[in-house]
Amino acid sequence: TRQKLWGGRFTGNTDPLMHEFNQSLSYDRRMYDADIRGSKAYAKALTRVGILTHQEESSIIEGLEKVRKEWASEEGFKIQPDDEDIHTANERRLSELIGPTGGKLHTGRSRNDQVATDMRLWLLDEVSAIEDSLRGLIRVMVERADKEKNFLLPGYTHLQRGQPIRWAHLLLSHAFSFRYDLERLQQLIPRISVLPLGSGALAGNPFVVDREFLAKELGFLSVAENSMWGVGDRDFVVEFMMWASLTMTHMSRLSEDLIIYSTAEFGFVTLSDAYSTGSSIMPQKKNPDSLELLRGKSGRIFGNMAGFVMTLKGLPSTYNKDLQEDKEPLFDTVDNISKSLQIAEGVIATMKVHSDKMRQALTMDVLATDLAEYLVRKGVPFRETHHISGRAVALAESQKCQLNELTAEDFKKLHDRFSEDVVQVFDFERSVERRSAIGGPSMKTVERQIAVLREIVQ
Ligand code: ARG
Repeated sequence: TRQKLWGGRFTGNTDPLMHEFNQSLSYDRRMYDADIRGSKAYAKALTRVGILTHQEESSIIEGLEKVRKEWASEEGFKIQPDDEDIHTANERRLSELIGPTGGKLHTGRSRNDQVATDMRLWLLDEVSAIEDSLRGLIRVMVERADKEKNFLLPGYTHLQRGQPIRWAHLLLSHAFSFRYDLERLQQLIPRISVLPLGSGALAGNPFVVDREFLAKELGFLSVAENSMWGVGDRDFVVEFMMWASLTMTHMSRLSEDLIIYSTAEFGFVTLSDAYSTGSSIMPQKKNPDSLELLRGKSGRIFGNMAGFVMTLKGLPSTYNKDLQEDKEPLFDTVDNISKSLQIAEGVIATMKVHSDKMRQALTMDVLATDLAEYLVRKGVPFRETHHISGRAVALAESQKCQLNELTAEDFKKLHDRFSEDVVQVFDFERSVERRSAIGGPSMKTVERQIAVLREIVQ
């Protein structure tokens, strides 16, 4: 059999199941480009300290470029049975292509600083793509809110009708959660962008490669100041997955609103066919599977995070093979949140919104707060007006009529400050427009929200 990269001290072979158990190539191959980039930069750094000649450097860099092209090509990179991970596979292939010079690349480097570097490089690219998708989602929500800012519906607390609001106000409430998710994602970048390369296995680099040069070559913002931390830290993986868990929690709450609103009982929204599926038995069904999956994925993504934190706790310093368990949850999280953001954007861009149904759900009782506020404006203390309005609600209920169908006489019996102008209370539009303090659902303050968010996702 072929020699393992680390096979020098071994005489026995690896148990086949152990090889399968130990290998990470089946999933870390997706970091091939980051691995090659890291190696090219490292070859340059070795040349600068005289470990490689310029000729050897060129040969290594050209060889690495060939390896990269193999991964990217149709036929693909030919994986050998003994390839263990992306690092050993790339190095094995490099040496096949350029000969023994390939064996100089790993001088002073360990897979420990290499893998930590690859992961960070890979994640930085993904974060920037995710950032774009998140902006795209917010943009669609903002544009939809702008177009539909005339639509009124009840706002709910405890899923009970509360007060009238604009549909745009509700949509934007979710957009603001995503706006802060965007900010939090951007704040992760300086902590992901710390260079481990040059930390060696744990005790640093004896050939004194210029790590600031490496950072610049690879686009890192800073350099790991402690080699043991550099190889052992996976907080950037945890933090990203925590970020994803919180973002998906927001996604789940948005989905839950829309799932409820898409029931026949509410009928406020209809999902487009593109994001719904049917039932294999009930022909009439059109189910909001997209939204249910978004809600479901949030549990899975939280689980990825919680599982890996559990792996980390109790590990001794520096590198332990347990750390290889960072990849599958991270990759799964990246894949699923990326898709989730795009699906959510599609759902929101294409759903139908039924303003008539929203209007119908506006019953007069959601103006009970406004009725109390009417008396406040006439000088009655709020605590009293709340009570009086409550009695008006009870009266209407006992007369089986709407609040606005009570007579002027009825109102006057409840309090002498009521007069004919009480009819003005029973106007949903007016109620919403009165709530014009910053943050409220009035037209002016909804437009302000739209402007604030547009500024951010421009
Ligand atoms: N495949 C390994 C990982 O993903 C690379 C690092 C291996 N290092 C080691 N000392 N065995 O973590």
